[in-house]
Amino acid sequence: MDQRQALRDTDHLIAGLGILPDPLARPVLIVVSGLPGTGKSFFSRSLARQFPLVILETDLLRQRLVARPTHSTEESQRLFAVVHLVIERLLRGGAPVLLDATNLVERHREILYHLAEQTGAKLILVQTRAPREVAMQRLRARAEQPAPQDHSTAGVEVYQRMRLVAEPIRRRHYVVDTSKDISPTVARVVRAISGG
Ligand SMILES: Nc1ncnc2c1ncn2[C@@H]1O[C@H](COP(=O)(O)OP(=O)(O)O)[C@@H](O)[C@H]1O
Ligand SMILES: [Mg+2]
Repeated sequence: MDQRQALRDTDHLIAGLGILPDPLARPVLIVVSGLPGTGKSFFSRSLARQFPLVILETDLLRQRLVARPTHSTEESQRLFAVVHLVIERLLRGGAPVLLDATNLVERHREILYHLAEQTGAKLILVQTRAPREVAMQRLRARAEQPAPQDHSTAGVEVYQRMRLVAEPIRRRHYVVDTSKDISPTVARVVRAISGG
C-alpha cells in the first residue's frame, strides 16, 4: 500500500476517535487478546469506565476503513498497518491506548511490544478467557441477535479456526476469565496504569 494512502487512513481513523483523554506523563499501551466471544470488548469497556482510555477496537475500525469488510488477508494487512500507525501517533502524543483485537499470534504481538518500546510507553498485556461452552453460547447469541455495541461478526466457525492458530503469550500478562467477576482484574490493571 502506498504511504499517502496509509497516512490518509491514519488521519481518518484518528478523526473518528473523537476527543482524546488527557495525555499521561508516561503513555500506556494495553493490549487485550483472546478468542472471539471471550469478552475482550466487554473487559475493555469496563476498564475504560474506570480509567479513560482510547479504545481501538479493530472490529469497529475495520468497518470505518472499508464499507463491506471481507476479512481477507489483504484487508487485514491494510487494517493492521494503519492501526500500528494510529497507535504510534497516539502514544507519541501521550494518550493511554487500549487495543481490542484477537492478537493471537506472537509475531503480531511483537510489533506492539516494539511500538511500546519505541515510544517509551508502559506495556500491559491482558488475555481474556472463557470456558469454551460459554464463548460458544455468546457467539450463538451474537449471531441470533447482535447487541448494538457489538461490532464483531465472528461466530463459532471463526472461533474454531482461530483456536488452532492461537499461541501462548510469552511475556508477563494478566489473565481474566470473563465467565467470573472481572472487577478484581480491572482494578489490578487500573493500578498498573497508574504506576502501581
Ligand atoms: N463478564 C461478562 N459478563 C457478562 N457478559 C459478558 C461478559 N463478558 C462478555 N460478555 C458478553 O459476551 C458477549 C461477547 O463478549 P465480547 O466482549 O463481545 O467478546 P469479544 O470482544 O472477545 O468477541 C457480549 O455480548 C458481552 O456483552
Ligand atoms: Mg470484540
